[in-house]
Amino acid sequence: MRAVIRGIGSYLPEHIMHNAEMAERVETSDEWIRERTGIHQRHIAAEGQFTSDLGFEAAKAALADADMTADDLDLIIVATSTPDLTFPSTATIIQEKLGMNHGAAFDIQAVCSGFIYGTHVVNALLRSGGAKRALLIGAETFSRILDWEDRGTCVLFGDGAGAIVVEAVEDTKDGILHTFIRSDGRHRDMLYVDGGPSRTQTVGHLRMLGNQVFKHAVTDISQVMRDCAEQAGVEIADIDWFVPHQANQRILNAVAKKLKLRPGQVVSTVAQHANTSAASVPLAMNAAVKDGRIKRGDLVMLEAFGGGFTWGAALLRY
Ligand code: ACO
Repeated sequence: MRAVIRGIGSYLPEHIMHNAEMAERVETSDEWIRERTGIHQRHIAAEGQFTSDLGFEAAKAALADADMTADDLDLIIVATSTPDLTFPSTATIIQEKLGMNHGAAFDIQAVCSGFIYGTHVVNALLRSGGAKRALLIGAETFSRILDWEDRGTCVLFGDGAGAIVVEAVEDTKDGILHTFIRSDGRHRDMLYVDGGPSRTQTVGHLRMLGNQVFKHAVTDISQVMRDCAEQAGVEIADIDWFVPHQANQRILNAVAKKLKLRPGQVVSTVAQHANTSAASVPLAMNAAVKDGRIKRGDLVMLEAFGGGFTWGAALLRY
């Protein structure tokens, strides 16, 4: 039994905030942001537009791509750190928006690694018979938890959503081949939100020690990709495409150099989307599928790193 990707879709809010607009709010410049991060712009959700709205749009696009409807699903998982509400889960809100009142829906929280953690969970459930057809969504409105006076963090993030429809299929060589997830809670103070229901009864703002996160990200991402490939019995050199979490172009370049990846093999959307946390991997993958780079049968590795720290990789034959 394999978990095969049947459809993929994404959604970005209409408003594009260019670096120049950012420079009107905090003391920064287009030049600094581009040079240090590769980011040119980010999409920002409209007032009254919530994570579930973004996720719902991405879900509809993925279902249309799979030629399925919500009736065909029996599971919805949403990876997010910016849920509409503390509860109920954003997954159940999207389930209701899709008009689906069967099956089950729940959220998972692994910050920027959420989509990889979600892939791990979906793969395990589909292979074990726990579900037949699942919708996995990464959706975020990080603009709502940014400190818009902290130039060290507010320039880095954007809003968006991406989704895949995954089906359990017997006797196939396609689908998710292997996933490997990791975490280390000792580093939680390097990247966190300083509020929450139990501790402060507030939502809080994102806080980050950027250059320390950078160093851990490069080391841990490189290692988890090597481990995931080795556990799957695949050489890094045999992988067609790499779809990384889109945090910073310099992180992408450093990892590509360490693993000796070929130029053009690494899908990058960080310039257009900035860091959309759990949405960044499906947003980037959808871009490369829709423009014809990633084709059916290609070997693709997804990876991410985020708060916790959490990190992981997923290898699949698209
Ligand atoms: N505009 C202008 N100057 C700035 C800005 C800004 N937006 N932000 C910081 N600076 C200044 C700092 O104040 C500092 O000035 P100083 O030397 O006078 O003190 C100088 O730039 C250098 O600051 P550093 O933090 O050392 O800059 P660095 O080269 O490390 O770049 C950055 C900062 C872009 C945040 C980088 O560290 C980074 O990308 N880290 C990884 C962050 C990341 O990927 N996070 C997400 C991963 S997990 C997740 O997605 C949730």
